[in-house]
Amino acid sequence: MQAAFKTFLRDKWNEADERHFSPEAIARNSFRQADFVKTTAFVAVDNKIILGYACGTAGENGLGSLEVVGVDPDSFHKGVGKALMSSLEQFWRDNKQRKIHTCVSAPNTRALIYYISNGFIPVGYRKDHFRVGVDEIILDRFLK
Ligand SMILES: CC(C)(COP(=O)(O)OP(=O)(O)OC[C@H]1O[C@@H](n2cnc3c(N)ncnc32)[C@H](O)[C@@H]1OP(=O)(O)O)[C@@H](O)C(=O)NCCC(=O)NCCS
Repeated sequence: MQAAFKTFLRDKWNEADERHFSPEAIARNSFRQADFVKTTAFVAVDNKIILGYACGTAGENGLGSLEVVGVDPDSFHKGVGKALMSSLEQFWRDNKQRKIHTCVSAPNTRALIYYISNGFIPVGYRKDHFRVGVDEIILDRFLK
């Protein structure tokens, strides 16, 4: 995840990112317990090598989220991201979700194209959202 996110954060990668994407934090956040919201995570593995990870939520009100997705940069453009999205989609469908939301950093064109290819539509814009100097594009997908 660190390698994946460094591909677009570059010099904006900071100590908070290091903590956020530490193995301990990822493990903790993968199956967080909360009232009315389920969290799950998937790991893409090839021959015991981890190629990618994704985490999402499903809400009792039918509103789910794609929390985070990342693929080892050596494995970009091989369908790993799509496979992770398919697993999340099954989780959302199993939990009768009607709408999924996520966001992507505006300069992260690769991920923006990935989300649009996977059915998400840009619906909004947040300036200087998670950090100053990086805007976020808000994306939604209605599950049919
Ligand atoms: C965004 C991200 C998850 C996409 O993962 P990925 O594994 O490269 O995605 P996929 O391989 O499923 O799809 C990417 C493209 O490769 C293409 N592709 C899939 N399999 C392919 C193959 N075998 N050969 C060639 N191209 C292929 C797909 O058609 C897709 O093309 P498109 O963008 O024109 O639709 C990945 O780039 C990443 O981890 N980025 C850094 C972290 C990040 O930005 N996360 C999202 C923000 S939260």
